[in-house]
Amino acid sequence: MTAASIEREKRAAAEAAAELVTEGMRVGLGTGSTVGFLLPVLARRMLNEVVYVATSPETHRAARRLGLDVRPFVGFDRLDLAIDGADQVAPSGWLVKGGGGAHTREKVAAIAADRFVVIVSSNKLVPALTPPVPLELLPFGLDSTLRLLEPAALRPAPPTPDGGVLADYLGPVEDPCALMARLSLTPGVVEHGLFPPGLASEILVATGASVDGFRPAV
Ligand code: A5P
Repeated sequence: MTAASIEREKRAAAEAAAELVTEGMRVGLGTGSTVGFLLPVLARRMLNEVVYVATSPETHRAARRLGLDVRPFVGFDRLDLAIDGADQVAPSGWLVKGGGGAHTREKVAAIAADRFVVIVSSNKLVPALTPPVPLELLPFGLDSTLRLLEPAALRPAPPTPDGGVLADYLGPVEDPCALMARLSLTPGVVEHGLFPPGLASEILVATGASVDGFRPAV
């Protein structure tokens, strides 16, 4: 696939997802280039009384520039909808997210939302998940945490907005459920980029100009 056709698909998936936003909603906005196509479409729709929550400073700034009403995620405990991209989508509905390092906030927004919609171009569909799996780690005891997570490597990236250190798990991902348990049970792991099938309500995949949705079986 060419870069241009991937971009077209990202835009198509984003346009389809933008239609799901209606007046009065609280909406979580993910992070990344696919969400980058979503923001201007939302701005053009000029919906009333939609409050947005951004999962990264980049999304926050971009959404604000476009005139969207972006608020901090404090003072309310749920979202109507969250829309986000993904790095990998397996046939089972397992996702890998966090290529942009925002997976912790993205997972918080996803779980808070009544409906979590994932938008991807067709090149994100994979037969099975592969490494790397993004990690956000506590700075405290970082070397010990990394040893427990072997094989893993620090990412040359600035700290997250929450003070976390970005890294990647580089080992096999054949059994995402077992890996998720291992990562979640390792003290010092703030969050990992494995999203189980139950998290996404719907995955919108653009192939050429058409967008098809599927609901992961839980
Ligand atoms: C951000 O940390 C990620 O989870 C993104 O959602 C993911 O990497 C998809 O990014 P693109 O839309 O840029 O492919």
